[in-house]
Amino acid sequence: MISYEHVFSPFRFGKVEVKNRIATPPMLSCLATADGFITQEMIDFYRAFAKGGAGMVNIGDSAVDIEWGRAHYMQLNLGHDAVVGGLSTVVEAIQAYGAVASIEINHTGILGDPEVMGRDPIGPGNMHQGLIDEVVDHFASAAERCLKAGFQTVMLHGGHGNLLAQFGSARTNKRSDGYGGSLDDRARFAREVLGAIRLRVGDRLALEYRISGDEIVADGMHLEETIEFLRLIQDKIDLVHVSLGGIFDPSTIPFMSQPTYLQRCFNVHRAEKIRDALGIPVTAVGSIRDLAAAEEIIATGKADIVAMGRAHIADPDLVNKTRRGEESDIRPCLRCGICGERPARYFPVRCAVNPVAGRETEYKWLRPADTSKKVVVVGGGPAGMQAALTASSRGHDVTLIEKEDSLGGALRYAAGPSFKADMREYLDWLVKKTLQSPAEVRLETEATPASVRALAPDVLIVAIGAEPLVPDLPGVRASNAVWAGDVDVGSAETGRTVVVAGAGLTGCETALHLAQAGKKVVLIDMLPESDIAQDTTIAGREALLSLLREHGVELKSEVTLTEITADAASVVDGFGEKVRLPADTVVLALGMKPLSEQARDFQGLAPETYTIGDCMSARDVMAAVHGGFNATADL
Ligand SMILES: Cc1cc2nc3c(=O)[nH]c(=O)nc-3n(C[C@H](O)[C@H](O)[C@H](O)COP(=O)(O)OP(=O)(O)OC[C@H]3O[C@@H](n4cnc5c(N)ncnc54)[C@H](O)[C@@H]3O)c2cc1C
Ligand SMILES: Cc1cc2nc3c(=O)[nH]c(=O)nc-3n(C[C@H](O)[C@H](O)[C@H](O)COP(=O)(O)O)c2cc1C
Ligand code: SF4
Repeated sequence: MISYEHVFSPFRFGKVEVKNRIATPPMLSCLATADGFITQEMIDFYRAFAKGGAGMVNIGDSAVDIEWGRAHYMQLNLGHDAVVGGLSTVVEAIQAYGAVASIEINHTGILGDPEVMGRDPIGPGNMHQGLIDEVVDHFASAAERCLKAGFQTVMLHGGHGNLLAQFGSARTNKRSDGYGGSLDDRARFAREVLGAIRLRVGDRLALEYRISGDEIVADGMHLEETIEFLRLIQDKIDLVHVSLGGIFDPSTIPFMSQPTYLQRCFNVHRAEKIRDALGIPVTAVGSIRDLAAAEEIIATGKADIVAMGRAHIADPDLVNKTRRGEESDIRPCLRCGICGERPARYFPVRCAVNPVAGRETEYKWLRPADTSKKVVVVGGGPAGMQAALTASSRGHDVTLIEKEDSLGGALRYAAGPSFKADMREYLDWLVKKTLQSPAEVRLETEATPASVRALAPDVLIVAIGAEPLVPDLPGVRASNAVWAGDVDVGSAETGRTVVVAGAGLTGCETALHLAQAGKKVVLIDMLPESDIAQDTTIAGREALLSLLREHGVELKSEVTLTEITADAASVVDGFGEKVRLPADTVVLALGMKPLSEQARDFQGLAPETYTIGDCMSARDVMAAVHGGFNATADL
């Protein structure tokens, strides 16, 4: 049994004492008003982390200057005194649970979206001295407003290619005046910003500086230079927050918030190197998913604070659950990245597995139902399981019927490839929670309209899923043509040379799974290369495509599968030419077809009937889980 003694020990930086070593990193929620003010939704989103036991909670990316330095719609505007009163309410909510309230202040510089700002962005390349002085002043004023609102610490966003990083990196700073050239000159802007903040707030605010330990791209800043940069500002900061990558190049996006294909604790070694080199307190971040990992990081002196972002979104109570010894109850994060992708596209934060995330205000009233109803759920995939969990937790009498001998549905296939450990943990958690719930689970029972009618439910939830799309082509039923899902779970064998047809998320993952097992894989799709794997996040897609290249998977886009023979897949290319691709096995990953007709057979069998998940529209875990929750949260 892990004692977690290091994680649950207090830590001091500046004048701030944090009750434990777990923080949330900055996570923009896009829950502010359009003009940058706080909302109740925002307060409740961040409050959940404090209530759940995190020692320090950060309000994500907040613009020091909404006119020039804004990255997003629905982002906080720290450029006006009017924001202070509202800000104080989120501080109040966080501090009520004994957590430290922190906020990331940022100017996005040349990466600002002209449409969002209504003007062209500014950066090291076009900022004259007057503008530099103005922005420095905006940082100082923003920090002062945060102090007035009650924040105990402020994090400056010096990473991910934002303005402070644009000045720091020779990749973006081509100036030849005192702000560019040598590293010392490139650090001048950061020093001026920090100096101006210190002048205004003294040591009443602790200052954390977020930086990308490595910008990843060849001409970007790398760890050694990052360390030297930090050495130049070290006297003005209390804590360094070591992130990675940036928003400036699609290839670096996966490194900021690593998808499931990348290893856990991805960036800890950079935090450790910075801590060792500078002797300054550091925060480690990046795919640290549980407190066991955090304990190891703190105990071995790799970092002083561990920031856990998505793990907190998936289960805001993770710290308190760990403290109580309820680790197995923590809802695992998939590292699917949907939560981060939504704010990046100016949509409010949501989570695939935690249907309440970003909607805490709306579902505060989730409470026992006034009247217990008899609820029958048909289908034990994620949609059906979530429906059963939510309905039974609210006091309804739930029967879940699943025709297979185990719960999981298509999630079992999604969790199949070796690199989907996050998905496997979630599958295990969801199945366990469902079996532990008051819902009665009937396995190996195929529901029919007659059997459902006999149960006389008040509410019927139809969650019977989808089936693989199999095109009507010569050879498609032969033994060397198999479905991707079966390959993923090992119930279908493939030969040494494989053609995978369909380069959506599933096809790409299966191709990678096979390539990692030493197969020679050709991945084909009708779509142009720019359109493949678009059914996942930008970070997921970038990481997946890069891994496919790394593992030698050959991609053939704009070709159409026409026939499968004993030793080949025949395709027609963009010029109408027939091409023969040698293959021992052809793997079909051509999408899923909702079981809508079968679902229709169940309509009208109960006063209330809901059709949810893949049988309504074949999509993903998030749609299934949210479908299950939404159908039952207000029964
Ligand atoms: C190979 C593969 C990989 C995937 N990878 C991902 C991924 O990485 N990320 C992601 O978000 N999504 C992924 N998905 C999609 C995701 O798994 C589905 O969207 C999700 O499982 C749909 O959930 P559901 O509950 O609606 O349906 P399902 O999971 O299909 O569950 C339906 C259940 O109903 C049962 N059932 C059907 N008829 C009856 C009946 N008459 N009586 C009783 N039981 C019945 C079935 O046996 C099944 O267990 C993947 C899907 C596949 C196939
Ligand atoms: C929903 C979401 C919003 C984010 N917003 C910000 C942000 O505002 N500023 C920032 O510097 N990083 C942001 N990030 C990146 C995180 O701070 C963090 O570095 C990253 O998610 C890796 O940590 P994790 O694996 O613990 O989630 C965001 C990530 C997520 C998931
Ligand atoms: S949306 Fe995905 S990555 Fe984000 S917290 Fe939820 S499960 Fe994790």
